[in-house]
Amino acid sequence: MTESPKLRDKRCIITGAASGIGRATARLFLEHGARILAVDLQAGALEKTFPDNATTATLVQDVAVPEAPANIVSAALDAMGGIDILVNNAGICLPGAAENLDDDTWDRTMSVNVRSMFRITREAIPHLKECGRGRIINVGSIMSDMAGPGLCAYGASKHAVAGLTKAMAVDLGQYCITANYLQPGSIITALSEPFMKDPGFKAYWEAKAPIGRLGNAEEVAAAALYLASNEAQFVSGVGLNVDGGAIVKF
Ligand code: NAI
Repeated sequence: MTESPKLRDKRCIITGAASGIGRATARLFLEHGARILAVDLQAGALEKTFPDNATTATLVQDVAVPEAPANIVSAALDAMGGIDILVNNAGICLPGAAENLDDDTWDRTMSVNVRSMFRITREAIPHLKECGRGRIINVGSIMSDMAGPGLCAYGASKHAVAGLTKAMAVDLGQYCITANYLQPGSIITALSEPFMKDPGFKAYWEAKAPIGRLGNAEEVAAAALYLASNEAQFVSGVGLNVDGGAIVKF
C-alpha cells in the first residue's frame, strides 16, 4: 500500500476490470487501500489479474444481461459488506456510420455502454446512500462531447453517459453522493488497438493532443482516483477530460 492511501477500506465495484482502464483503476485503488469487486466477462484475465484475497473479490459477469445488477450488488455485499464507490467502466466500441449501422450493433452498444450503467447504478444506489459519501464514476469518452467518423453508436452512447451522469448528480447530491464521468482521449488499450493499426488514425490522435502522444490506462486511473478521493467531495456532475488536451484543440 502507498504511504498516503486515499481510499483506505473504501468498498469499490469496478466493471470491465480485466483489461485496460478498468484494470489500471482496480490496481491503483488497491494500492490506495480500497477493497474491490472486480467484474468482467473475461474469466481467465480477471482471475489471473486479481486472485481472490482479503481485499479483492472477482465476479465473472456480462454487465448487459438482465440479472447483472442483482448479481453484482449481491457479490459486493457478500465480499465487502457495502458499497462506497461504483466505477462503471465496461464498454465496447463497435464501428459503423449511421447509413450502414445495423440494429444489433446499435442495441449491443447502448446495452453495454449505457443501459447497464443505469441498471447497475440503480441497484447500487440504496447502498451508496447508506455509506454517507457514495461515489459514482462513469467512463464516458472524448466522444461524450464530440463525434468521430464511423462511430455513430459509440458516440451516441458516450453522449448518453454524460447526460445520465448529470441526471444522477442532480438527483443524488442530497444524499452526499457525487456522480462524475471520465472523458479519456485516445488511450492505448485492447479497445483502441484495432484502430491504432491504421497508422493514419494513430498519427491523427497523437497530433490532436497538444501533449503529442496517446495516453495510457494508468493516467486515466489517476483521474478516477481523484474523483473517488476525499479531495473531490464537492465535485459532481462533471466530465473530466483525460486526453492530453485533444478536445480543446481545433
Ligand atoms: P478494454 O477493452 O481494454 O477493457 C474493457 C473491459 O471491459 C474488457 O476487460 C472487457 O472484457 C470488459 N467488458 C466489455 N464488455 C463487457 C460486458 N458486457 N460485461 C462485462 N465486461 C465487459 O478497453 P478500455 O479502453 O480500457 O475501455 C474501458 C472504458 O474506457 C470503456 O468504457 C471505453 O469506452 C472507455 N474509453 C476508452 C478509450 C480508449 O482510447 N481506450 C477512449 C475513451 C473511452
